[in-house]
Amino acid sequence: MATEQRDRTATGTSRSDGQYEAHLERSRTVWNRWSDYYGQSERDFEPIREAAIDRLTLEPVDRVLEVGCGPGVNFERIREEIGADGELVAVDYSPGMVANARERIEAHGWENVSVRQADATVVAFDKPFDAALASLSLSVMPDVRRAVENVYRSLVPGARLAVVDVRPAPSGPLRVLNPLIRRFFRWYANWNPDGDVAGSLEAVFDTCELADTHFAGTAYTALCAKRAAD
Ligand SMILES: C[S@@+](CC[C@H](N)C(=O)[O-])C[C@H]1O[C@@H](n2cnc3c(N)ncnc32)[C@H](O)[C@@H]1O
Repeated sequence: MATEQRDRTATGTSRSDGQYEAHLERSRTVWNRWSDYYGQSERDFEPIREAAIDRLTLEPVDRVLEVGCGPGVNFERIREEIGADGELVAVDYSPGMVANARERIEAHGWENVSVRQADATVVAFDKPFDAALASLSLSVMPDVRRAVENVYRSLVPGARLAVVDVRPAPSGPLRVLNPLIRRFFRWYANWNPDGDVAGSLEAVFDTCELADTHFAGTAYTALCAKRAAD
């Protein structure tokens, strides 16, 4: 990923309204189904998600946005960093996931953590955020480029975004399995075949770096930043 400033005025590849709506509604069905069986995925990715949160170097008063929070698997770690004085606002489209995330919040008694059931591509907030996290969520959104643009718009100047996501094997012998990997992602996660997470991050954010890769390159962590105010 390059670090030079990019043109953020282009909207990039957009899907038709029909494709967008169909993808979004399938997401609701798929993720409602998985909301009851998310434990394995929560455990498998825990160290990767936690390392991504560490890269945000959060401060105790930060206001943090999480897009596609699922059942709230990242809340505890983020809450440890921001303490009782910061704020975490999370968004997820699946009512089942949102219900589970809210249960987690109640169980811990976190008063400064909240979840909204909304499409992260278009949701708007009354105040901008100091940092954002998208773990395993951008690549399942119906229009990845617009979702990234919406995160960028929701941040204060100088804010950072950490992204964990999956992709087909970029190199090596595993590439031969890529058609199967793609089909699996689409079936399991309603993965967006037209989405380009890394390309969208590079195009929209002012700086972006590939911070780490995992599972033979089929998962990665990226760290992006919005330019600080002049
Ligand atoms: C693989 S889960 C990731 C959950 C969690 N962030 C994690 O790291 O395990 C993807 C989540 O993205 C949510 N999602 C999909 N499309 C969305 C959209 N347009 N807006 C908000 N959330 C969305 C799904 O409901 C699901 O909970």
